[in-house]
Amino acid sequence: MRMKRIYSTRALQDLALCIIAVMFCSTQGTVMTNNQDVELGGNVTLRCTLIQHHDIYQVTWKKIKTGNDENIATYNKDAGPSVLKYKDRINFTVWSPQDSAINLSNVSTEDNGCYQCIFLSFPEGPAMGQPCLSVYDDLKSSISYNIFGNHLSANCSATGFPRPNISWFPPEVDKKETDIVNPNGTLSVISNIFVSISNVEQELICQVIHRGKTKIMKLPGKEKDQTKNSFPVVPVLLGVILVILVIVVGICCWRRQRKKHRGF
Ligand SMILES: *[C@@H]1O[C@H](CO)[C@@H](O)[C@H](O)[C@H]1NC(C)=O
Ligand SMILES: *[C@@H]1O[C@H](CO)[C@@H](O)[C@H](O)[C@H]1NC(C)=O
Ligand SMILES: *[C@@H]1O[C@H](CO)[C@@H](O)[C@H](O)[C@H]1NC(C)=O
Ligand SMILES: *[C@@H]1O[C@H](CO)[C@@H](O)[C@H](O)[C@H]1NC(C)=O
Ligand SMILES: *[C@@H]1O[C@H](CO)[C@@H](O)[C@H](O)[C@H]1NC(C)=O
Ligand SMILES: *[C@@H]1O[C@H](CO)[C@@H](O)[C@H](O)[C@H]1NC(C)=O
Ligand SMILES: *[C@@H]1O[C@H](CO)[C@@H](O)[C@H](O)[C@H]1NC(C)=O
Repeated sequence: MRMKRIYSTRALQDLALCIIAVMFCSTQGTVMTNNQDVELGGNVTLRCTLIQHHDIYQVTWKKIKTGNDENIATYNKDAGPSVLKYKDRINFTVWSPQDSAINLSNVSTEDNGCYQCIFLSFPEGPAMGQPCLSVYDDLKSSISYNIFGNHLSANCSATGFPRPNISWFPPEVDKKETDIVNPNGTLSVISNIFVSISNVEQELICQVIHRGKTKIMKLPGKEKDQTKNSFPVVPVLLGVILVILVIVVGICCWRRQRKKHRGF
């Protein structure tokens, strides 16, 4: 019992040290913060904690934008909280002079990106943290095709956020890609190929990559029957199975026959 307790205390100490080490690694200077993933339409809290003690008189939250950053909220020691942008969606949650957080509700694709929290103190000067928000919407994908005489037209469609990537296997030179921005900010990509059926020697595969995950879609089997030069997998497989069966039966019969002969 005692040993166990000593060990667990030790383990806790080690854990605490680890956590502190990680904290310091992920801080910019003296502000601790963390990045967040949030689903489109969801709620999220961005938080910055000042590790060193300063006499803070103001915290400013900004959205980093190419061109110029956008002030979204401030908390002043005397004037209190003030939300400057997205008033209906942003709220301060935690406030102590060292610890600031904003809640964002009904997140949109425009909220995607990095933010900055700036702690102002005198005489130490500003301390900054930069939490980033990765907004996502799950992938929806489909494949469709049509046959025009000797040609095959196929569309591979993918909708999501961030933008999904589409590629074909074998790689198609003759592909047209269309990008659509949906009203909710998600992105649709449609990749169209137009190929001569006699050139299709193997299965056509559409590969969609979204948020590090890969989805494979093949053109339906019916398609393959119409491709003349495609490798006849099923007949060959059946043939092989038949040959093996014949051999096995042959061996069996032969052994049985031998046994019979011996028996006489
Ligand atoms: C987000 O918060 C709002 C209230 O601010 C709530 O009505 C809604 O259900 C929350 N949505 C999610 C996905 O948690
Ligand atoms: C922010 O909080 C105030 C009260 O603390 C509340 O009235 C308001 O509805 C909240 N806004 C959001 C967007 O959650
Ligand atoms: C902010 O979000 C957290 C959870 O992320 C929730 O516990 C808290 O009540 C929210 N605060 C406000 C003011 O909406
Ligand atoms: C969330 O925002 C979208 C637009 O970005 C809007 O159409 C929708 O009504 C909002 N939902 C809520 C619950 O406020
Ligand atoms: C592919 O998409 C285009 C444009 O969106 C459409 O005109 C065409 O009919 C589609 N083809 C197939 C095979 O779905
Ligand atoms: C998508 O494709 C573009 C160009 O082909 C490439 O730069 C980008 O890294 C790809 N993104 C993903 C998530 O694979
Ligand atoms: C956004 O729009 C796309 C296309 O209209 C739809 O497929 C997707 O479900 C929508 N996402 C959300 C979260 O409403």
